[in-house]
Amino acid sequence: MSQEASSSFAGQEQPHPEFVDIHSHVLPGVDDGAASLDEAVRMMETARRHGTRVLVASPHANPAFPYDRSRTERLLDELRARAPSGLQLIRGCDFHLTFNNVEQALRWPADFAINGRCWLLMELSELTVFANTGALWRRLEDAGLRIILTHPERNALLRQRFELIEQWVSEGRYMQLTAGSLFGGFGSAAQRFATRMLDAGLAHFVASDAHDLRCRPPRLDLAFQWLARRYGEAYARRLVVDHPRCAVEGLALNLEGFGPPPRLPWWRRLAGAKPKTN
Ligand SMILES: [Fe+2]
Repeated sequence: MSQEASSSFAGQEQPHPEFVDIHSHVLPGVDDGAASLDEAVRMMETARRHGTRVLVASPHANPAFPYDRSRTERLLDELRARAPSGLQLIRGCDFHLTFNNVEQALRWPADFAINGRCWLLMELSELTVFANTGALWRRLEDAGLRIILTHPERNALLRQRFELIEQWVSEGRYMQLTAGSLFGGFGSAAQRFATRMLDAGLAHFVASDAHDLRCRPPRLDLAFQWLARRYGEAYARRLVVDHPRCAVEGLALNLEGFGPPPRLPWWRRLAGAKPKTN
């Protein structure tokens, strides 16, 4: 199901905050994202039209799609020349945990970090959690990087290991959900897991992970509406505005008091009462 298709609950366009989307495959012809410059331009226009002000272009870095910083910079310049007014494009990378990638990132951390600062998008294998994953992360962290684990809710292996998510967050790693997961776009198991993480305050970012215009569009407005309806606007803003902005600026997250507001009993929700948010 596409986010476009799931927009029926959203009704008319509502005013919303200015979103910062830290994960997208908008660069044309480098991976399984935008296939052409024309599609990339239309993706940028869609993002801007639906409230995104900052879009991180994060091409894959894996054996199938090797990452090349100079080519990324070149394409970014091309896209910036065609970007709609009010949309800022930032360099990032969808970094897969491989031995070679880790070696590269230890030598040149800024090549892979969002905006060349310190936050690193990290995708894990769906086949195994390597015994040395924590050790590799510590080496990257010692090099100044902060790990954002991408879409754990879409990883069938991690869905069996909620305690690992809890452990990793308690150790100072961060979690990014895919916007489409909230609406069931990646199946009901991913949707349930995403909700469980949000209920527990274990998700720090929601990003589009946009690949195209139809199945995974660069939209955060529907995710924001869904989050605001379920948890209140304050929590929603943290996930799609405040935390992503910190990542782009290379700042630490202030997680004091971070988490969902208390859930109201169903009869009060039915009566239209809103949870108190701070
Ligand atoms: Fe991605």
